[in-house]
Amino acid sequence: MSTETTKRGGFGGKLAAILAAAGSAIGLGNIWRFPYITSENGGGAFIIIYLGCILLLGLPLLIAEFAVGHNSKCNPIDAFAKIRKGWGWLGAMGLISVFLIMGYYFVISGWTINYTIASATDSIGGDYGGFFTTFTTDIWKPLIFTVAFILLNHFIIIGGVQGGIEKASKIMMPLLFAILVVLAVYSLWLPEGREALGNVFTPDFSKVTGKTFLDAMGQAFFTLSVGMGAMLIYGSYFKEGTKIAGTAISVVTLDTLVAIIAAVIIFSAGVENESGMQLAFVAMPKVFAAMPLGNVWSMLFFLLLGLAALSSTISMHEAVTSYFVEKRGMTRTMGATIVTLGAILLASAASLSLGAWNEYRVAGMNLFALLDNFTAIVMLPLLGILTSVFVGWIWKRSDAKAELTAQGGVDKATYPVIYFLLRYVCPVLVSTVFVFGIIDFIKSL
Ligand code: TRP
Repeated sequence: MSTETTKRGGFGGKLAAILAAAGSAIGLGNIWRFPYITSENGGGAFIIIYLGCILLLGLPLLIAEFAVGHNSKCNPIDAFAKIRKGWGWLGAMGLISVFLIMGYYFVISGWTINYTIASATDSIGGDYGGFFTTFTTDIWKPLIFTVAFILLNHFIIIGGVQGGIEKASKIMMPLLFAILVVLAVYSLWLPEGREALGNVFTPDFSKVTGKTFLDAMGQAFFTLSVGMGAMLIYGSYFKEGTKIAGTAISVVTLDTLVAIIAAVIIFSAGVENESGMQLAFVAMPKVFAAMPLGNVWSMLFFLLLGLAALSSTISMHEAVTSYFVEKRGMTRTMGATIVTLGAILLASAASLSLGAWNEYRVAGMNLFALLDNFTAIVMLPLLGILTSVFVGWIWKRSDAKAELTAQGGVDKATYPVIYFLLRYVCPVLVSTVFVFGIIDFIKSL
């Protein structure tokens, strides 16, 4: 067993496990997605519902996914199949989804390099919307940055679990937290910042609708990276003695803190009415420009976004790479190269779909939007349902219990609660929200 673990590689200790998994969780989802979804949905009211989703659905699912990985110590496909014959397809579904997410996530990640450089050299200019549109719809420029970002991932991944992922996480995550704190302190120091904050965090329950629950759940799953094999593969690298439940709680806490602090920074800049891409890439640079030392703040903000993206994308890349290494018998370098090339192809197409290929559309969406919507609306909830059903119903009851209570570190009194959440609450709630989500989406077409 121990030789098997060494051969596969693994994290050196508990802190490494927390930092790597928190790195996967904390990403673009926390820094640009959470703030704008919050402001669209009534601020404080949304946050309350979101926290409910994190605790009742996200946390148990994260524990479940870590447990499947830790118990089987394999890549996502073999992991499910090892626990229950015939269930490997669930791992495959996760890997396909994570690959589709990579397709658009790498494009946005690439932009952060250009924006960090353009901020540092003060060359965004006065027309922020124009800069964004010209850049993102260009053919070559965004492509080059996207490919550069994918190659950055590639070199971390071929460095191995400990020499690559763990080392990178130990450098990136403290840096990310430091930048976040500096930006937050600065925004709270501005009087208009404090005022803007009060307005946004005050709950406005009149804005709560069915869609609020949909958005809250989708955000909870996305931000915790659950259901896609990324957390599963990290769970499989946990060193013996790393407690699953404790690690999951640390990850959830850090992820939630970062999302809320990011919202503080963004709301205090008074840009909460902007949404999505426009918020991070157009409104923020504009706000920074009006401040003393604006380009330094702007550079720090995009560096933060880039670091968050990088620590998430390496877990996506690793999940898919582990399949080629363990199931196809390739060397790590070979497996990683295939994933890198595949990601370059898909992300390039997604990048071009914003400009040159924008007229090719399915259901009114270009490839970029299609990848985003399909994974968020269909795959994420579906994987959430299936993962909870797997642990709650398919995994032999005594084995699941043994894994969670012994290795997992879940105490005997808490175990029934988590089991109940996974067996009944997750499948029922997520299915309900899933069906309403699809209906809502079809109506919006
Ligand atoms: N959690 C990431 C974020 O908030 C996004 C994400 C979703 C992800 N699914 C994933 C990251 C799978 C890694 C693996 O930005």
